[in-house]
Parts: sequence; structure tokens; C-alpha cells
Amino acid sequence: MAKYIVQGGQKLEGTVKVSGSKNAALPILCATLLTTEKSTIKNVPDIADIHSMIQLLEFLGCKVKFEKGTVEVDPKNLKNKSASMEGVCNMRASVLLLGPLLARFCKAKMSFPGGCILGKRPVDAHLSALEGLGAKVVDENDFIHMQATRLKGADVTMKEISVTATENAFMAATLAKGKTHIRLAAAEPHVQDLCRYLNKMGAKIKGIGTHDLQIQGVKKLKGATHTVTGDYLEAGTFAIAAALTNGKIKITGINPHDLDIVWNKFAEAGIEYKLDTNSITILPHGRLKNVSKIRTAVFPSFPTDLQAPFTVLLTMTPGESMVHETLFDGRLNYLAELEKMGAKFDILNPHQAIIYGPHKLKAAPISSWDIRAGAAMVLAALAAKGTTEISNIGFIDRGYDDLEGKLKKLGAKIDRV
Ligand code: EPU
Repeated sequence: MAKYIVQGGQKLEGTVKVSGSKNAALPILCATLLTTEKSTIKNVPDIADIHSMIQLLEFLGCKVKFEKGTVEVDPKNLKNKSASMEGVCNMRASVLLLGPLLARFCKAKMSFPGGCILGKRPVDAHLSALEGLGAKVVDENDFIHMQATRLKGADVTMKEISVTATENAFMAATLAKGKTHIRLAAAEPHVQDLCRYLNKMGAKIKGIGTHDLQIQGVKKLKGATHTVTGDYLEAGTFAIAAALTNGKIKITGINPHDLDIVWNKFAEAGIEYKLDTNSITILPHGRLKNVSKIRTAVFPSFPTDLQAPFTVLLTMTPGESMVHETLFDGRLNYLAELEKMGAKFDILNPHQAIIYGPHKLKAAPISSWDIRAGAAMVLAALAAKGTTEISNIGFIDRGYDDLEGKLKKLGAKIDRV
């Protein structure tokens, strides 16, 4: 696997436009299967997970063209093959084929999805939501295998607020008979974007952006053109890069209010910023201040996907900071890498750690643990004194579109070898 070589200590300055959101583009590509007509999806990030998803769609019989950020999907010849190819196993998002295949064919069978090692990631919330719509689980040992005579609208209370389980539930409900009410729905910006695409296809989804979705099932959906929303997680990553190097970066192509809770933490740390309609500018700061706590939770709370990147900043703020990762039980693993760079912390349990700052990070050979921990390692390397080698960067390629190219334009010294 390729490595990054990063020479730290450069102040980052300039403007960066973020790419389309991975976590919006992946379910939207799956939702193109809900019709027989062609869809055109713009602003799709050029990342490994999107290429894996395109391979899966092609395996299922779709004609797919990906050029200059635009994906055209023609699902006319979609076949309900068991999606048991390797791709299903190595990407969590492949589970998002379940809802659309059930809606189109009333049966779906696939291998269990893999993905980042973030701790236990069951699919029970997916299965129970789809059971609520009338599907039956045929097998959940070797495969995920579900079928239904006809999906029927229903009152569904999600087992827990889960992004992809909510997406599967409402994708299936768009073609179910009658009205569905989904309570405890996830409301992340990428979930909202998928709803907007579905409504362009002719779906009738109300309550977008809330934890309460109402879906009036329709007989048929049509193809649609949609521009994927900007990646707020990539935006947060660049904002932290600016703060860590005490630079000035304008980040465009997002709704900055999607990250209000993160900007609150920036303010607590003494980092100034300027919000605009579609951008945020992070300004150079004076002495950093203590951030007592970050606690990840579902939107609009602090996103788990920015927990590792933000923790790098906490190694530079003074005093003790509590990191409370409420969602995943394997998302503090990367701290072992930060320790090699001189970070000081105590891990209290799989969900909580106390970071002691400020400690200047120094270069060391480190490794990526997952997509977001990988980005955190790049951030740590940008802030550290000396030259850091980061291995396993295939994880970063899964989720970030040309991270090194964008960072280079901002003045970073980063090379792929
Ligand atoms: N969970 C269950 N049962 C389920 C599903 C989830 O117990 O059936 C639990 C998980 O164990 C976890 C929590 O629910 O504690 C959250 O998982 P969720 O289902 O919300 O995560 P996901 O839908 O599998 C999406 C993103 C992740 C992101 C999480 C949380 C996509 C494709 N993936 O995963 O993104 O961390 O939501 O916001 O949208 C990433 O982009 O790097 C990434 C991992």
C-alpha cells in the first residue's frame, strides 16, 4: 500500500473547494436502482469507495459511466443477482443495496458488509426496519437474505438512530404500498441529500432533516439529475488543518451550519472563523484555550467522523480534554499512533479518553486505522516537527478525493510514495 511522506510545520493558506460527500454519493448511487430510468449524479467524489460501488452496480447489470465527477447510471438491465462479490464484503456502504433491491424485486440476498474496523457494526437496525415494512428475514447467518410479498407502508420506530439503516428504510418505503412513518430517523446532511434526490425521482418524503420522516409510497420512480452536497466532513478536516498550522484557509462548497457544533468548539479553543453562505474561513489564532470535552452523537451533535481529526487539535490545547465517543467502540484505536508522536492521554474505556495538552507532536512512522483516523494522521503530521511517514493510506483514498493535491495547493509538503 502507498505511503505519505509529510514534512510538518508549514502554515497552510489559501482556498479549498471540498468535493461531493462520500456518505451522500454512496446511497444515492444505490437509490438509482429504484427506477428503470437513467440518472445523472454530479459532484461525485473520485474515491475508492465510489469505484467499489460502481463495480457493484455493474455486477448487478447497470451501465455506469463515471467522468469528471459525473456518474450516469442506466439500471434498465438490473438483475437481482445475489450481490456476493467481494466488494460487498469490503465496504459497509454495500448494505445500502438491501433497501432498493427489496423495493424493486421483493427479495434481496447479499454477503454481510465489511468496512472500517470501528467496533461492532451489526445490521439488526436495518433488518428490523425492513421487517416493519413487511419483509421477512430468510437467513441472517451466512447471508443477509430478505423477501416480501409486497412492501407495505407502516409505522416504523428505528432500533437506534442509524444513518444507513434509516436510508435503507426510507429507500424501501418510497415504493411500498401506502404511507410510512419512520421515527428515530437519522438526519445527517447526507441523509437529507439522499431524500432530496429521491424526491426529484418522484418520491414523496416529508420531514427531511428531522428524526421523523413521512413517506407516501408511489407506484414508480423516474430517473433524475442531482448534484451531491459538499462533504462537510472533508470541510471539517481542512478547518482543523488550518487551526493546527495556525494558517488561514477559506473552505467553500458546503453549508457551514452543518458543522455549528464543531465551530462552537473552535470558539472554545480560541480559534476565530468567519461564516458565509457557502463557506467558512478559519483565521490565524493567538494562544489556544482549553476545550473541556467533545462528545460524539448523531447529527446535529459532534460528528463521530471528526472525532479523531479534532483530537489531534486537543493535543495542542492546554489542560485536560475529555473525548467521549458514544457511537463506536473501536474509534479510539488511533491514539496508539498519536502516542508515537508524543501525545499524552489516558484511555478510560473503549469510549472515553482524556487528552493532556499542550504537547508538541514530533515526527514518527505511523499508520492509518480507518478512513477518518487516516485523515487524523495526516493532520498530526502537518502539525508535527520533522518528516512523518504514514502507511496504510489506502484507507484515506477510500474517503478523501485528492487529499494530497488539495493540501499541496494550500502549501503543505506532502508526497505519495
Ligand atoms: N448499529 C447497530 N445496528 C445496526 C446499525 C448500527 O447497532 O443495524 C450501531 C453501530 O454499532 C454504531 C451506531 O449504530 O454504534 C452507528 O452506526 P450507524 O449505523 O449510524 O453507522 P453506519 O450507518 O454504518 C454511517 C457512515 C459512517 C459514520 C456513521 C455514523 C455511511 C456510508 N457511513 O455508518 O461513516 O461513521 O454513519 O455517523 O454513511 C466514514 O465515513 O468514515 C464512516 C465510517
